Amino acid sequence: MSKPIYQQTEGVVSRSVPSNIAIVKYWGKRDVQLPLNPSLSFSLEVSRTTTTVGFRFDDTKQDLSFDFFLDGIQIPSFRPKIEQFLRRVLPSFPWLEFFHLTIHSSNSFPHSSGIASSASGMACLAFCLTDIEKRLTGNSAADSEQVSCMARLGSGSACRSVWPGWSLWGAYPAMERANDEFAISLNEYVHPSFQHIRDSILILDGDRKKISSSVGHKLMTRHPYREARIAQANHNTGRVITALKSGDWSLFGQVAEAEALSLHALMLSSEPGYVLLKPESFQAIECVRNFRQESGLPVYFTFDAGPNMHLLYPAETEKEVTSFIQRDLKQLCNGQSVIFDRLGIGPVDLINEKV
Ligand code: PMV
Repeated sequence: MSKPIYQQTEGVVSRSVPSNIAIVKYWGKRDVQLPLNPSLSFSLEVSRTTTTVGFRFDDTKQDLSFDFFLDGIQIPSFRPKIEQFLRRVLPSFPWLEFFHLTIHSSNSFPHSSGIASSASGMACLAFCLTDIEKRLTGNSAADSEQVSCMARLGSGSACRSVWPGWSLWGAYPAMERANDEFAISLNEYVHPSFQHIRDSILILDGDRKKISSSVGHKLMTRHPYREARIAQANHNTGRVITALKSGDWSLFGQVAEAEALSLHALMLSSEPGYVLLKPESFQAIECVRNFRQESGLPVYFTFDAGPNMHLLYPAETEKEVTSFIQRDLKQLCNGQSVIFDRLGIGPVDLINEKV
């Protein structure tokens, strides 16, 4: 078969894409990265992945080929996940067979922080591939929904990172556009007090997480509470949407904490069960709940699939909450490490939209 003619034989694209934090958690999947339940999150600002992809036409090659560097170092353990992703998107990007890719990635947050680098990393790579596609074929750029669909094939939660601010992934009957294939933006519904939400990430344990989320998703397939969890996530999605629309921090926080604890309860009750929260995580929970009661301020927590707490609060309470963190929570953190993050502006094209 003769090789197609492309508009460029080599070039470079570069993107910066945020990680996101789920308030309603995606936990359990079927088929190719389709979720068992709807999930809802917001994209962060500070916690980002930057990826630069060099592409070069290579007449001699017959299959996918790429080099991957994290912070300038080749990391062989990352290759299988990237290769699986590239194979999944190959039908949309047949040029991948004729171009060698040199992928350089770096995260703005430490690898050990437990922040989902697969969400920002896979979404970033999906954007870079669509940028290359545009350069090679002259086709118009993919829209965010198409990029979200593609990012999902790399990592489920990545499909939410393509949007700035709030997004929803997974079929949710009360919202017609919501679907399992890609995430949709929720920003048009969000009350101003949730448009500047803060997320201070307390690194309570610096160890890498010992169980990958794909193992956790798999354990949901035969989980005794599977059906109850699906019903709970649907119910909680409705409650969070109501809270976001009306600016109800108390309802929002109640659901955020219940979701985080349910996620860990599902891990505890899997077979085999596993524990990701650490003693410091429990101490921090108690501290936050006491502070909330004493101060009357809307400060709530969530956790990802790891021991580190995300502290959620409105921008208006930043001064009081920062002093609380310095006074009571920092001492629980590994190396006193806290990342002061917030709802962010979403992906940035570093070649065409210099910031
Ligand atoms: O995208 P994955 O496969 O890494 O799964 C992410 C799962 C959670 O972070 C625990 C929850 C979520 O919705 O982001």
